[in-house]
Amino acid sequence: MNSTNLGYLVHLAFLVGAALFVLGLHRMNSPVTARNGNRMSAVGMIIAVSAELLFVSQGNMGPGNWAIIVVGIAVGGGAGLAMARRVAMTSMPQLVSLFNAVGGGAAALLAISDFIGLNGQRTLAQGAPGLDGWRTLFIVADVLIGSVTFTGSLIASAKLMGKLRGQPILIPGGRLVTSLVVIVGLAVSIVLVLAGAGAVNYEAWELEVLLVIALVCALAFGVTMVLPIGGADMPVVISLLNAFTGTAVSMAGFVIGNVMLIVAGALVGASGAILTNLMATAMNRSVGNILVGGFGGQEGTQAAMTSEGGTVREVSVDDAAIQLAYASKVVIVPGYGLAVAQAQHGVRELADLLEARGIEVSYAIHPVAGRMPGHMNVLLAEANVPYPQLKEMDEINPEFPRTDVALIVGANDVTNPSARTDKSSPIFGMPILDVDHARSIIVLKRSMGRGYAGIDNPLYVNPKTGMFFADAKKGLQQLVAAVKAL
Ligand code: TAP
Repeated sequence: MNSTNLGYLVHLAFLVGAALFVLGLHRMNSPVTARNGNRMSAVGMIIAVSAELLFVSQGNMGPGNWAIIVVGIAVGGGAGLAMARRVAMTSMPQLVSLFNAVGGGAAALLAISDFIGLNGQRTLAQGAPGLDGWRTLFIVADVLIGSVTFTGSLIASAKLMGKLRGQPILIPGGRLVTSLVVIVGLAVSIVLVLAGAGAVNYEAWELEVLLVIALVCALAFGVTMVLPIGGADMPVVISLLNAFTGTAVSMAGFVIGNVMLIVAGALVGASGAILTNLMATAMNRSVGNILVGGFGGQEGTQAAMTSEGGTVREVSVDDAAIQLAYASKVVIVPGYGLAVAQAQHGVRELADLLEARGIEVSYAIHPVAGRMPGHMNVLLAEANVPYPQLKEMDEINPEFPRTDVALIVGANDVTNPSARTDKSSPIFGMPILDVDHARSIIVLKRSMGRGYAGIDNPLYVNPKTGMFFADAKKGLQQLVAAVKAL
């Protein structure tokens, strides 16, 4: 095949790959089609990578380069596959963060390598094809965004893994250091772009030193940006860094003139930005507020609520089982505690038992229940809960007044009525599940401990509420046994 025809074929393959990415993303809109969407996007990626390899195989690439590509794919692909297969659902955010780090780092390395190559050509023959203003702009943007993403994502991941303290880590003079690295990094980047455009003259080695300074500033900024953010805010930060990775990859596409990288990066950048915004909105906070630190920093303090202003009524497992078994409509509200306890199978078993008794059972899914987008959907899907039973917040809220028992398993903030009524509450205005409108409420959690927002929940002193104190998994096992015994 001649090179023109091959070029057409490769571009056609890129088009097919890009279409599959978009269709795959669209199918991720619903849990029913999400797996299929994921596969579609994976096929798109295989087509894109194969087309690129076919293209470069026509050039004069030596066996050494091929060996690097093959070993790279084997090591990177193998490690990714092994990690993705082993990861627990609750550890997914830290894995995504590690993948972001790798993506951002790879994009930055690509730009650095391109810069060194072109800068060398420029020295050999001024005016020959080498750096120009636009190309330098994309290279510098790629290095900056990719490097911030690299270190920022590593810190985020270390916080979520517990290797670094989850609470905000404030270094003395941290804000000054952050301001300094931003000013120096941006100033050096502007000089680099001007030099690329030929507006100022520098030796090749001087430009390389300037790029190293920009690189170090960006790496430092990634660290100083994420360290002061509370561990519990990390999912939003990870989503933001994911948008950065996409943008860096897109820039890399401009640098090396690869359409597929531009398309894939733009899709990741745009969807990451949309997701970040949706998460922040569902928590009734702005992205800026999260970045400068907020209530997320209090997680892990194990603060317990006082029962001041009301009496906490405790229920035994037998009482709770009787209430559930003789109801006609039960709504289960899963939360972060269900995920931590890995109680998704227990909840499904209980729901099956209740359904077998002719009780209507559904699950109320709050958009930010748990610690990552779609956390509850994924967990319940793992336990094969039928999708039609999962009800989004807007759909289930009008049903609570007709609900006999709302069974809350390890959820707290997403059921807190002060979000509707208490203007001084940090979660005031956050949309919540109106469980307090149900005829009766059972809360299954270990103690009066607070949730992510670190605030009291007046639901627990509501006369309609019975507190069933237990670990979610063990408590559900006891409930299953008690319902079976009835
Ligand atoms: P939370 O408000 O965090 O409450 C979880 C509750 O689970 C805690 O009060 C805890 O009480 C209980 N718990 C912990 N381990 C348990 C176990 N083994 N067994 C039983 N209960 C256990 O959870 P939520 O209602 O799901 O709300 C999610 C929160 O996370 C929101 O504030 C949201 O804004 C935030 N957030 C969400 C996201 C996303 S995208 N989902 C991202 C960032 C932040 P005990 O200690 O008494 O058991």
